[in-house]
Amino acid sequence: MIELGVNIDHVATLRQARHGDEPDPVWAAVEAELGGADGITIHLREDRRHINDRDVRLLRQSVQCKLNLELSIAADVVDMAVECIPDQATFVPERRLEITTEGGIDLTVASNVAKPLERLKRLNIFVSAFVDPDEKQIVAAAKLGFDAVELHTGDYANAKGVRVQIELDRLRRAGELAANHSLRLHAGHGLNYRNIGPVAAMIGMAEVNIGHAIISRSVFVGLREAVREMKQLLSG
Ligand code: PXP
Repeated sequence: MIELGVNIDHVATLRQARHGDEPDPVWAAVEAELGGADGITIHLREDRRHINDRDVRLLRQSVQCKLNLELSIAADVVDMAVECIPDQATFVPERRLEITTEGGIDLTVASNVAKPLERLKRLNIFVSAFVDPDEKQIVAAAKLGFDAVELHTGDYANAKGVRVQIELDRLRRAGELAANHSLRLHAGHGLNYRNIGPVAAMIGMAEVNIGHAIISRSVFVGLREAVREMKQLLSG
């Protein structure tokens, strides 16, 4: 069964719109778990624009399923991972002016990520890399010693017409390569209730991380139900 990681950054974004204390991502995590989430995914950005240090500390204590911390290689963010020891860490690239993570991390500039990766591996944290579905990146992830790769599904999600199949084939080839290198296969970005099917059906797919679509749906049906509906699609 494919694991569903629910990304709750958007709940913190809403809180930060008023710089107040609601909605609380800690409550959101509880609702997501009650809806059947297998993991709670949060991105501690360098500028702390949504999830902050307090959230990471509290979620570490309260989340009962897998806590997946997305992080850049910035030293103070890696320090938080070292302090809180999430069940899983996912290295992502980060650019200050982007609205959301726009592409995969470039692992071919290995010297940047090797040290932070080693710090987390020393603590037995399961570490994934968010990469574009490109051969070079998968091979580099394996060489560096990552446990998993999360394929960036943004191009697939944005594709129209014949491009959809082309992007899907690209994801499938990357997935096969990941399996050949014994990397656990994850996917995320732009996945929603309409486009999840073919990604969930990919051979070897072990985990998907979904934020925007589930949080958007939760406005109308509640978070618990929105998660339940996505879980149903994954099991179908
Ligand atoms: N996975 C990673 C690594 C991400 O950076 C994001 C976006 O924050 C997601 C999954 C979730 O993307 P979306 O919000 O588009 O579902």
